[in-house]
Amino acid sequence: MCGIFGYVNCGICRERRHILQVLFNGLRRLEYRGYDSAGISIDDCLPPSSSATSSTSFSTSRSPLVFRQEGNIESLVKSVYEDVAAMELNLEESFSDHAGIAHTRWATHGEPATRNSHPQTSGAENEFLVVHNGVITNYEVLKETLVRHGFTFESETDTEVIPKLAKFIFDKAHEAEGDQPVTFSQVVLEVMKHLEGACALIFKSKHYPNELIACKRGSPLLLGVKELNEDASNESTLNDSKFLSKNGQPKEFFLSSDANAIVEHTKKVLVIEDNEVLHIKDGGVSILKFDNARGIHGAAPSRPSSVQRALSILEMEVEQINKGNYEHYMQKEIHEQPESLTTTMRGRLIRGGSSKAKSVLLGGLKDHLKTIRRSRRIVFIGCGTSYNAALASRPIMEELSGVPVTMEVASDLLDRQGPIYREDTAIFVSQSGETADTLNALEYASENGALCVGITNTVGSAIARRTVCGVHINAGAEIGVASTKAYTSQIVVMAMLALAIGGDTMSTQARREAIIDGLFDLPNKVREVLKLDAEMKELAELLIAEQSLLVFGRGYNYATALEGALKVKEVALMHSEGILAGEMKHGPLALVDENLPIVVIATRDACFSKQQSVIQQLHARKGRLIVMCSKGDAASVCPGNSCRVIEVPIVEDCLQPVINIVPLQLLAYHLTVLRGYNVDQPRNLAKSVTTE
Ligand code: BG6
Repeated sequence: MCGIFGYVNCGICRERRHILQVLFNGLRRLEYRGYDSAGISIDDCLPPSSSATSSTSFSTSRSPLVFRQEGNIESLVKSVYEDVAAMELNLEESFSDHAGIAHTRWATHGEPATRNSHPQTSGAENEFLVVHNGVITNYEVLKETLVRHGFTFESETDTEVIPKLAKFIFDKAHEAEGDQPVTFSQVVLEVMKHLEGACALIFKSKHYPNELIACKRGSPLLLGVKELNEDASNESTLNDSKFLSKNGQPKEFFLSSDANAIVEHTKKVLVIEDNEVLHIKDGGVSILKFDNARGIHGAAPSRPSSVQRALSILEMEVEQINKGNYEHYMQKEIHEQPESLTTTMRGRLIRGGSSKAKSVLLGGLKDHLKTIRRSRRIVFIGCGTSYNAALASRPIMEELSGVPVTMEVASDLLDRQGPIYREDTAIFVSQSGETADTLNALEYASENGALCVGITNTVGSAIARRTVCGVHINAGAEIGVASTKAYTSQIVVMAMLALAIGGDTMSTQARREAIIDGLFDLPNKVREVLKLDAEMKELAELLIAEQSLLVFGRGYNYATALEGALKVKEVALMHSEGILAGEMKHGPLALVDENLPIVVIATRDACFSKQQSVIQQLHARKGRLIVMCSKGDAASVCPGNSCRVIEVPIVEDCLQPVINIVPLQLLAYHLTVLRGYNVDQPRNLAKSVTTE
């Protein structure tokens, strides 16, 4: 996924330096979405105000400036200031009205290179410029048509067809309408009729100075509005009007792929919905809803309709997106798990008392619990770490709900077109709520009539909006690409879900109350296991030069083995494999020798004795073991210090994966730092993959 950003100042004087800084900071906040190339566009000089110009006069003179650079944001910043100096552009030049756009890329079509970076342009004149997040699936057909009409393409991107299509439509309209002005919205509405695929777009055009148009289908996009003298960090400056003050009032507008790049400017936002064209012009915003669907008998799509929408207030603090005293976001997010878990459980655990049993309240699900209890199956669907969190929760879901639980990796379910029945409950787990494979699986499951439930960490995300009901994990913004605190909060939410579904079964009351007690105490236990930080750093120093690492787990901790190995793969760039311990003798045992480091998760639960025998078999083959065991078990699992031990606090078995993953998160973190790799933006990865 890419990050797109736009900034418009209306009637508020801003120097070019300030405008550049706002665009660069916007990109820095979105860099976790993609970081292989970036670009911005600003105006060359003071354009006359948009109302003064007809769309022809100004356009012939000065074109917007476009700066693009391969590499991360800081390489773009450096090259922009070099270019600005070379062009003798005055950074103190002030603009009372200006519209700038920016983009940070995660390459899908066309390698990371300056020509493939955004903004993509309509041509040398930069008449139309576009920044895009998503994939245009019919771009080749559109490209052929545009080439036949004389357009030449300079990039391998799918995006380049969009600004060129805008110019084609603009020129056509002018031929047809003569001097009749064509509005920016009209051009973009026409463009959207031809585009297929997921997209969030921001358009800038020299024909419409100081205006931006944002529109989307599938990929996320928000608008932030800052009135004059409003200060995001001081609630009292927020006028509590949920509607925009009238047009022409001095304002600043921020467009962004997510709230991270808006919250430092304002908390007043508007989530742009699918098939909406949002036009920022003259200090005002107009929204047109369009429907591409052809009418009956292929009749033309209905006319776009104007939409009034209220602003909402972001429940997010700037601190959440700052590193604080930590060096990396991943490190911060690992260490803030006691707080994120507390927030995840806030208002959802009922302590009970003499008259009332301990229980769980999940407001977003209470009207659907009966249906879920009667389900034919519960199907967990997700990708990456989210899939592993669901896998860690399967045993307790089966135990407390009594409903068979099936696991599906989203892409595999789609490849197989696996069976989904209308009596099924399909639970979609996604931190970002925007992962394309999970979204497509949601579409597939809802087409098959299943009850679709969402578990996400992003309010207003596509999965949150397209599922019938769900639970927000409220872990706070997660910026490190390798997911950590979201994983532990996802497991806790699914444990609470199992408790809620099983809430009417007397036979499991004692078990449920024990788990609820365990949940209340979990943040403290996580604080305790975080004290292993230095020990994990030491272990990382021992493993720094290793090529490979195996992690054995079973029962609740098969997921811990998969997730631990995934973290080491994702950030430390070391081959590592999570293996179901029960499968050891059926192949993996062949890999065991005195060199290959092997982590065995052997904390106390129903599988403990089996894991003890696994350790003996590995010892018998001189395995190089690192055993994770419950506090006080070191001597029994590794007699005579025959291996390295990681002792962790004991909690309820279904909550133990929350504890056991923390030392492996810390190990992966320290290995990455010691091996000199990028912790927060690992090679070739993105926080959420919004393309298939
Ligand atoms: C990957 C991320 O792109 O997507 C992983 O790098 C994540 O950390 C996976 O687990 C699934 O993302 P999500 O947002 O659907 O949980």
